[in-house]
Amino acid sequence: MKLIILGPPGSGKGTIAGRLEKEFKFKQISAGELLREEVAKGTTIGKDIQKIMEKGGLVPNNLVNEIVRLEIQGKKHYILDGFPRTLEQAKSINDLPITKVLYAEVPLKVVVERLSGRRVCAKGIHNYHLKYIPPRKAGVCDVDKTPLRRRKDDAPLSVQRRFQVYQKQTLPVIRYYKRKRILVTVDARGEPHRVYQLVKKALHLHG
Ligand code: AP5
Repeated sequence: MKLIILGPPGSGKGTIAGRLEKEFKFKQISAGELLREEVAKGTTIGKDIQKIMEKGGLVPNNLVNEIVRLEIQGKKHYILDGFPRTLEQAKSINDLPITKVLYAEVPLKVVVERLSGRRVCAKGIHNYHLKYIPPRKAGVCDVDKTPLRRRKDDAPLSVQRRFQVYQKQTLPVIRYYKRKRILVTVDARGEPHRVYQLVKKALHLHG
């Protein structure tokens, strides 16, 4: 399986990819996470990336393409989470035999609610939602026991910008895959378990 998951910020791409990885062992490759790892290294390029991400813009195509390519190397089953987000990125992976592109569709109202309640662990890896996916102990990550925090780009102004960027740059990518007839759309407004069941059904996955 070589899957792409696309959708607006906060649509649940990471949550869906994480569940598929856990159940089916497809490797989740999150562009946002790879970029946050680059930022954590504190290099000059990492600092430039950080400024772009905090404002809710897109990191330059050549850089993201290179980082994602490196991560894909040698893997047979993977899920690209949040990549490609521009037509240029999409065309850069035209050589890959992508099985399906999953579009997690949610309206802006849902995005705002999900991102305002999102909390992540100190390492930025594990995701929770105060109301929908709470940790077992308030304020603490179930997995690595670090304190939970809010992502900087989940501030209202950044969310608004991310949604605008998504509409301008990523909706054309969704239309591109629709024309290629490999797009499957899932209504991702429901609660996490329900959405996950819809995803498995849409992808003909049993488990
Ligand atoms: P990235 O980290 O990919 O951010 P995003 O696309 O904006 O997506 P999010 O991580 O915010 O949300 P998600 O859809 O994964 O939802 P999640 O599962 O967390 O990218 C960050 C930045 O990096 C970008 O803005 C850009 O600057 C840069 N970047 C990344 N990729 C790039 C690229 N290809 N090119 C250029 N730049 C790039 O869920 C959200 C919340 O809702 C969580 O709290 C979760 O617990 C909760 N939740 C999930 N599902 C449900 C549900 N069904 N019901 C209720 N709550 C739910």
